[in-house]
Amino acid sequence: MKVFINKRIPETGIAMLEKAGLEILFPENENLSYEEWLNYCKNTDTILNIGADFKYDKNFFEACPNVKAIALYSVGFDHVDIKEASERNIPIGNTPDVLSRATSDTAFLLMQSVARRASYNFQKVRDGKWSTFDPLHALGQELYGKTLGIFGLGRIGYEMAEKSKNAFGMNIIYHNRRHNEEAEKELGAAYVSFEELIENSDVLSVHANFTPEHKDLFNSSVFEKMKPNAIFVNTARGGFHNQKDLYQALVDQKIWGAGLDVTHPEPMQVDDPILELSTVCILPHIGSATIEARNGMARLAAGNIIAFSKGEKMPHCANPEVYSPIL
Ligand code: DGY
Repeated sequence: MKVFINKRIPETGIAMLEKAGLEILFPENENLSYEEWLNYCKNTDTILNIGADFKYDKNFFEACPNVKAIALYSVGFDHVDIKEASERNIPIGNTPDVLSRATSDTAFLLMQSVARRASYNFQKVRDGKWSTFDPLHALGQELYGKTLGIFGLGRIGYEMAEKSKNAFGMNIIYHNRRHNEEAEKELGAAYVSFEELIENSDVLSVHANFTPEHKDLFNSSVFEKMKPNAIFVNTARGGFHNQKDLYQALVDQKIWGAGLDVTHPEPMQVDDPILELSTVCILPHIGSATIEARNGMARLAAGNIIAFSKGEKMPHCANPEVYSPIL
């Protein structure tokens, strides 16, 4: 069975696939155009997909009828039309849990970075603008005892809440599709409505799965209702926030700062004025970029392909109802 892998992943995953006797197809050049990518996909049975440059939508599935399974090298699957895949009996594997620590660490890092204007101050040093001690310049804010609001309290949100509670004694409130009993019991997290979340959070951190209904959920009317000292953190997907509205809310001091690991579009424009603000820290979607998390993702993604090749269910699957054994 052939597996197309569009970019190199940690060796541990490749070794697993080789040991399982699978034929691996790498592109000659990793920066593929859509057409080039599609041509590779047309000639494979399975795909181990890295990144979200191209969509797995109806057009894709119609163009590539030989593809029987896709293992994503990501926990998120918003670039896949799951309904279209399921209708064709194509399992879509993903990589949950192994990146929860790294991604929540990134949210925690952004929260502190923004609170202390770390990016801005670092840039000053780089620009040779480190001047004499100034008691009033570019002051940050402390996080002790403040309220952290989590939008989407799954594993990553839980870990962000736990770290913030342990480090700064933050009170945790959250809004989710359902109650998270573990968080309520262990962290004293309080379930609140969306309105209460946005009105009461000193830091609001987004950790939900992105679906089209979430597009621009955090927009000017939401920022308007947030606290003027609030820090908005997004490590989930850029589509959750409207970046122009976010910029305006920061300029108008409706909210205090923003820490983003995700933007819309990605990569973001270098001339985006939001980059000029002193209470912003923006990272290039590196939430899971640790050796440990990326090795874990490689193991899970390879494990999903191998399970499929043996006619077994993928252990980590976005559409677990689909079972399409190779017979
Ligand atoms: C994920 O795993 O979903 C990360 O955002 C990388 O795409």
